[in-house]
Amino acid sequence: MSSTSFDPTRTRLSPAELRGRVIAITGPTAGIGQALALECARYGAEVLLLGRSVRKLEAVHDAILALQTHDGEPIAPPSIAPLDLEKAVAQDFDTIARAAQERWGRLDGLVLNAALLGQPMPIEEYDMPTWVRVMHVNVTANVALTQTLLPLLRASNDASVVCTSSAVGRKGRAYWGAYAVSKFALEGFMQVLADELEKSTVRVNSLNPGKARTQMRRQAYPSENIATLPDPATLTSPFIALLGPQARGTTGCAFDAQPASSASSPPSSIET
Ligand SMILES: NC(=O)c1ccc[n+]([C@@H]2O[C@H](COP(=O)([O-])OP(=O)(O)OC[C@H]3O[C@@H](n4cnc5c(N)ncnc54)[C@H](OP(=O)(O)O)[C@@H]3O)[C@@H](O)[C@H]2O)c1
Repeated sequence: MSSTSFDPTRTRLSPAELRGRVIAITGPTAGIGQALALECARYGAEVLLLGRSVRKLEAVHDAILALQTHDGEPIAPPSIAPLDLEKAVAQDFDTIARAAQERWGRLDGLVLNAALLGQPMPIEEYDMPTWVRVMHVNVTANVALTQTLLPLLRASNDASVVCTSSAVGRKGRAYWGAYAVSKFALEGFMQVLADELEKSTVRVNSLNPGKARTQMRRQAYPSENIATLPDPATLTSPFIALLGPQARGTTGCAFDAQPASSASSPPSSIET
């Protein structure tokens, strides 16, 4: 199903790696998604920002407009679309797809990045409403969004779906509950979709960013000195590589943005 020779952590990116591509990102209003949205724009992409807070979306939109691209060409103005993955119904996904169809007639990239941590606790005690919420945001809503956008991705001659994964979505760890199970599910979704689209121009892969200095990490490790962790801006290159033309032919693969030792040396028993 996949080409394993491609390594997104070792790809030499051209300054115009994403020039001309339209890339949708969920959760672009904080942390890794925000850093990625800015970097996609710097590499020339036209970014579609999908988030639940219009105020935060507008702030990222304005931050992108103020950037310089890596190739010196004008920045492509981003677009914003309100989308709360917890509350969205079919009509909300359709509205986004219709707007993208009218505007571009295609999508070249989709990054399923937004996620909820839930509550780290033993399965025996796990709060079921929280379980349902985490599984819905991290899995079901991402699947529904992808399903609705698939005709637009198929309309591209080189489209890339990237599922933002986690170490605990590849090896289960105690107390990670719904978050870990949701990331396993996202990995499964990636494999199933990649297999179904094997003969298409749409590739589907997962990328575990490893630990990063974000709000989610702070929530997971309240006593950790977060200043010692990588800035999300330093972890975007493998995402860009997977979204760009050099990843063509690579599908169904699970990648890590950081070396396993660095990504999984836990200060406690918990690893996002
Ligand atoms: N940080 C790490 O160490 C780490 C490690 C491994 C994997 N990851 C993964 O990396 C991805 C990004 O995580 P992060 O650390 O950057 O998290 P973060 O800083 O908490 O950002 C999460 C993003 O998801 C959005 N979001 C949450 N619930 C949403 C909803 N119902 N509808 C729409 N958007 C929603 C947030 O929007 P608001 O701004 O509106 O809250 C925010 O933009 C996640 O998939 C996470 O599992 C992170």
